[in-house]
Amino acid sequence: MATKKILIVPGDGIGQEVTAVGKKVLDRIAELFGHHFTYDEALIGHVAIEATGNPLPDESLEKMRQSDAVLFGAVGHPKYDNDPSAKVRPEQGLLKMRKELGLYANLRPIKLFDELLGASSIKPEILRGADILFFRELTGDIYFGEKGRKDNGDTAYDLAAYSRFEVERIARKAFDAARTRNKKLCSVDKANVLETSRLWREVVQKVALDYPDVTVEHQFVDATAMLLIKDPTRFDVVVTANLFGDILTDEASQIAGSMGMLASASIGDGTGVYEPIHGSAHDITGKGVANPLASILSAALLLDISFGMKAESEKVIQAVDQVLKAGFRTRDIADAQTPADKILGTEAMGKAVLQFLS
Ligand code: NAD
Ligand code: IPM
Ligand code: MN
Repeated sequence: MATKKILIVPGDGIGQEVTAVGKKVLDRIAELFGHHFTYDEALIGHVAIEATGNPLPDESLEKMRQSDAVLFGAVGHPKYDNDPSAKVRPEQGLLKMRKELGLYANLRPIKLFDELLGASSIKPEILRGADILFFRELTGDIYFGEKGRKDNGDTAYDLAAYSRFEVERIARKAFDAARTRNKKLCSVDKANVLETSRLWREVVQKVALDYPDVTVEHQFVDATAMLLIKDPTRFDVVVTANLFGDILTDEASQIAGSMGMLASASIGDGTGVYEPIHGSAHDITGKGVANPLASILSAALLLDISFGMKAESEKVIQAVDQVLKAGFRTRDIADAQTPADKILGTEAMGKAVLQFLS
């Protein structure tokens, strides 16, 4: 029996809807395995700006630091997306959280459940067996360099920068993971053009010397975008920079069937943060149709990585698998063959998962 403090940070849009479900799953696991989980909530994003003027209030950050793990939803609101001049933005809260907590490694597993072979727009014979673990660097790159305007606002710039130690620490995490999997690592960069990528490749080549048992390949990001769709099973562990990782994993979500299926773990120096890779999804907010499985699978990563609860984590993944085997789908992973009565909303999908957690 373990006692753990979990902070729920729903954020905006469907973040609110899906974390409510993820929390219920954590609750059920505590009950089943005799753990004692306590919960608190904190504001981030648009809801935090509305309440305090700040996308990441100090109080929220302090609560994160004091927690054993954070279950995070999403941030974002159409108001800012359509107003390029807005100085205070929900996404700043998310970026500050990652930087302040030192969450430099973002693990994004692209796990295809067999039952969802038909949910993707990629042919089943290409997809079968796809299982990729992305390591997206999360606290450097063009996201965090100097940005601004000059020439009376007519020229804008965002500086991309990486230091050797930043590349080395994420590379080591990725190599360590490759050792526990199929011992294949693909490092993705744009070393034919970018100086940051040339440093990236140099450092990864050097780290590789410490992992002679891992087969390493280097790919350019543009070719990787193509290969992910052409031949997803060629990949095992992929390590890449912040911006490339952001883009490639949204693309890779189609291997798993939907953005609503992809969970992530952000780890590093401080409290681990677990979140779906998707955003606040304005187009479906408030409709009760968001797929909560990414949040549920994020809860599974939380149990495994932050609490070392392997059996508990496995139990959650199995429950998701059973729900899919039973034919239940949310709208985003349904196909033409799915009977209408098997297409569930967010809450009903959560309940279906809970039924397999007893
Ligand atoms: P998005 O991920 O929110 O949505 C992209 C598409 O995927 C939409 O059609 C949406 O309906 C669908 N989708 C996403 N999650 C789903 C789920 N769980 N179930 C079913 N369908 C799902 O990306 P976007 O539309 O480009 O961005 C919307 C807002 O979210 C923006 O303000 C953006 O900045 C923000 N955002 C936040 C995060 C985050 O908090 N980590 C991530 C991405 C985008
Ligand atoms: C993600 C999101 C964020 C990112 C945005 C909202 C800042 O797209 O978590 O993938 O680009 O990292
Ligand atoms: Mn993204």
